Amino acid sequence: MQKDDDTSRLPNHIALIMDGNGRWAQARGLERREGHRAGAESLRRIVEESSDLGVHHLTVFSFSTENWGRPRTEVSFLMSLLERYIESDLADLHSEGVRVRVIGRREGVSKKICSLIDRAESLTANNNRLFLQIAFNYGGREELADAASRLARRATNGTLDPESINADVLAAELLTAGMPNPDLIIRTSGESRLSNFMLWQSAYAELYFTDVLWPDFSRADLEAAIAFYADRDRRFGLVSATGELD
Ligand code: FPP
Repeated sequence: MQKDDDTSRLPNHIALIMDGNGRWAQARGLERREGHRAGAESLRRIVEESSDLGVHHLTVFSFSTENWGRPRTEVSFLMSLLERYIESDLADLHSEGVRVRVIGRREGVSKKICSLIDRAESLTANNNRLFLQIAFNYGGREELADAASRLARRATNGTLDPESINADVLAAELLTAGMPNPDLIIRTSGESRLSNFMLWQSAYAELYFTDVLWPDFSRADLEAAIAFYADRDRRFGLVSATGELD
C-alpha cells in the first residue's frame, strides 16, 4: 500500500511541477522551446542534487494530458525533448543507480518514444539509489478514471468482488502503484495549484510554491523547499505529534 507516514526531516518523495519555462524564455527574448531546453538542463541538475541530498523518490511533471492543446510545434518539441533526454542521459542515469519509470497514457506517444521508455524502464529496473518517475502525457483525473474503469471491468467479469474495493485496492491500480506518496510537492513560477497532478497521491503532501522559474531552480531553491518541509508538523488527520517530531 502507498503510505503517508514519513515523518523524517528529509522528504522521501519529492514531486515537482516544473513550471515557467515559457516565461523564462520570453523574459530573455527567446523562443519558448529555448525555455524548455533550459528546463531539461534544470531537470538534469535537480535529479543529481536530489540523489546527492539523499532523496529516494522524485516525480516530475513533464507533459500533461492538457498540454496537447499547445501549438503543434511546441507539442512535438516537448515530445522530442523526452526522446533526447532518454537517449542522451539513460547510460548516466543507469550508472548513477537511478531507476526510471514513465507514468501516463501511451496513446498519442510515438512508437519510438514508447520503446525508449520500455528500454529505460527495463534497463534500470533493479537500481535503487533514486527512483525517478517522469509523468508524461499524464493527468491525475485520467489516471483515476482509468483505474476505476479497470476495476469495474474486473468486477463485471467476476474476478473482483466490488465489496472489496477500498482505498488500498484503488491505490494499487494507479500508475504510481508501489511508489510511496509524495511528501513534498514543489511548484515553480508563482502558480499555486496542482493542475491535475497526482490528485490522489497528494492527499497529505506538503505543498511548496516558489516564484522561481523552473530553468532557474537551483540546489539552494531545493534546499529551501526541503527546509520548509522539515518545519512542518505533519499530522495526517491526527492530533499534533510535536513531542515526537521535535
Ligand atoms: C511548464 O512550463 C513546463 C512544461 C509544460 C514542460 C516541462 C518540461 C521540461 C521541464 C523539460 C524537461 C522534461 C523532460 C522529461 C526532458 P510552461 O511552458 O507552462 O511555462 P509558462 O507557464 O511560463 O508558459
